[in-house]
Amino acid sequence: MVQINRGNNAPPPPPVQRIPLIAGNWKMNKTVDESLALIDEMLDDLNAYEEVETVICPPFIALFPAMELIEDTEVKLGAQNMYFKDNGAFTGEISPLMLREVCDYVILGHSERRGYFHETNEDINLKVKAALKYDLTPIIAVGENLAQREAGLTEEIIGLQVEIALREVNSYDASGIVIAYEPLWAIGTGRAASGEVANDVCKFIRQTVARLYDQSVGDRVRIQYGGSVTPDNISEFMSQSDIDGALVGGASLKAGDFVKIVARTQECLAKKK
Ligand code: PGA
Repeated sequence: MVQINRGNNAPPPPPVQRIPLIAGNWKMNKTVDESLALIDEMLDDLNAYEEVETVICPPFIALFPAMELIEDTEVKLGAQNMYFKDNGAFTGEISPLMLREVCDYVILGHSERRGYFHETNEDINLKVKAALKYDLTPIIAVGENLAQREAGLTEEIIGLQVEIALREVNSYDASGIVIAYEPLWAIGTGRAASGEVANDVCKFIRQTVARLYDQSVGDRVRIQYGGSVTPDNISEFMSQSDIDGALVGGASLKAGDFVKIVARTQECLAKKK
């Protein structure tokens, strides 16, 4: 390949454009019929916001019919969890091999999985690697609880969560993943973090990724904030330097609210340009 010598006056490379990502984590809510009705209610609106990537994460059982419903749109699907094995005697589990037929994303390490189902950082690392093997993009959820924050342990806890989740993940794969910062004290409480507090941690996560790989991976990785995100506070998060989207729980179950969150995300993007 011919190397072009741009000399010392070459302009700096353009800044990396991270496409904002709004994902709706429905958790254990909605039957199949209800899931399809909710998607149907918001699909046209979501599809209209072309500059925002929108992902819906309904329960497993609704993924296949949801895939048929969203087929000709830009809206994407994600699962809320998966096991790390391809197949075998693991009653009740779902594998990446199964999920890749129906979705693009998978949430891994949500605090409810860590808390209620005792998932460790090492389990999450196995899942991250398994997801990447089948071209599923992991949304890796990390976050501290209130006691940890008050004890000044936020960075220590989150640094470890990120570091272990990404063990043995190569830099190409790492630059494509998504990390969701979800402080436990803000999830489902109506007490969202302030934009500034959330951005500080998201910046720390980006620096951690840059330290583990290099600056370009740090610049590329998308980092979401999650925890009581609503149409009223999304702009505060989206106007921050290191927040590239949101993982939305409760508000993703209301079509009008979720559409507004996506709409306001696109508005913020226009202001940032
Ligand atoms: P919340 O949930 O928006 O209802 O706080 C966020 C999440 O758990 O992903």
